[in-house]
This record gives sequence, C-alpha cells and structure tokens, in this order.
Amino acid sequence: MSGEELPREMPGQELLSIGSVSERTGVARSALHYYEDVGLIASLRSAGNQRRYPRHMLRRISLITVGSKLGIPLSDIKRALEPVPMSTMPSEADWLRATAEWKRVLEARRRAIEELEDRLMGCIGCGCLSMQACTLLNPDDALAQEGSGARRLEAADDEDLRPT
Ligand code: FES
Repeated sequence: MSGEELPREMPGQELLSIGSVSERTGVARSALHYYEDVGLIASLRSAGNQRRYPRHMLRRISLITVGSKLGIPLSDIKRALEPVPMSTMPSEADWLRATAEWKRVLEARRRAIEELEDRLMGCIGCGCLSMQACTLLNPDDALAQEGSGARRLEAADDEDLRPT
C-alpha cells in the first residue's frame, strides 16, 4: 500500500541516499523501508536502482519520528501527512495543516491527565476506595441510579434464585 508516487526525476532537487537520510534523521534503514512500504514516505531510484530521497523528505521523516514519540499511531500520522505533497517541496502551510490535528489530540490528552490528577489528589485525601462514591475507581457509575451496593451481583443472585 504505497502512497504518492514520485516522478522518475526531480530536476533541481537535492537527492539523498538512504544512508545519508538514516544518518541525518537517526531512523534505521529498515524503518525507512517500512515507512516507504506503507506510503508514509517515497523515494525515486537512481540509475543503479538505489533509493534517492528528495531533501524535503527529511522533515517528513522527522515529523513521523516526533509523532511516534508522542504516541500517535502511524495510521494517524499517515492520515495527517496525506495532504502534504511528496513530489514537490511542501509549503509551511502544508506542514502546519498536517500537524494541527496532533495539537488537538495532545491538548485533549493533557486535559484528561489533568482531570485524572485532580481525581487522584481527591482520593489521596479521602482513602475510602468506595466503588459507589469514588470517581477514580468508578468514574461513570451508570448503575448508581438503581440503588446502592453491587447491582450486577444482586441481579445475578436474583436470577439464580428464580424458580425454573
Ligand atoms: S478514594 Fe474516596 S473518592 Fe476515591
């Protein structure tokens, strides 16, 4: 499942060998092969059938690395980078558009962690570990409206006692 195809030649573009790209980005050659196989990056071939990467691919690979380190799945990284052209030099706006969604994802994660931290601090001060009242142990207590206690266990017991 490859992505955008590169033209056979890219006049005026500096082309880099896979060794050079690996050295500059810190990404192993095997990972570069994989990224290419799944369409995250693309290369063209030299006369000797060796991979050659346009220089702007360095930035794309760096963004893939950063996204991975942030825990963003490769499928999401690929989706974000899809509108960024590979066959021509991307503009600054292309890069900003591609990473805007990541900013939203990270912001949502930051808010969720802060909320969890608030709940944790409440529990540290409380210590009741109540399945009924503790918002950390039981954040969405949907069965609470049915009454107190272990609702599922009581329902199961009622069924067990029902005459057959
Ligand atoms: S331990 Fe009491 S509310 Fe979480």
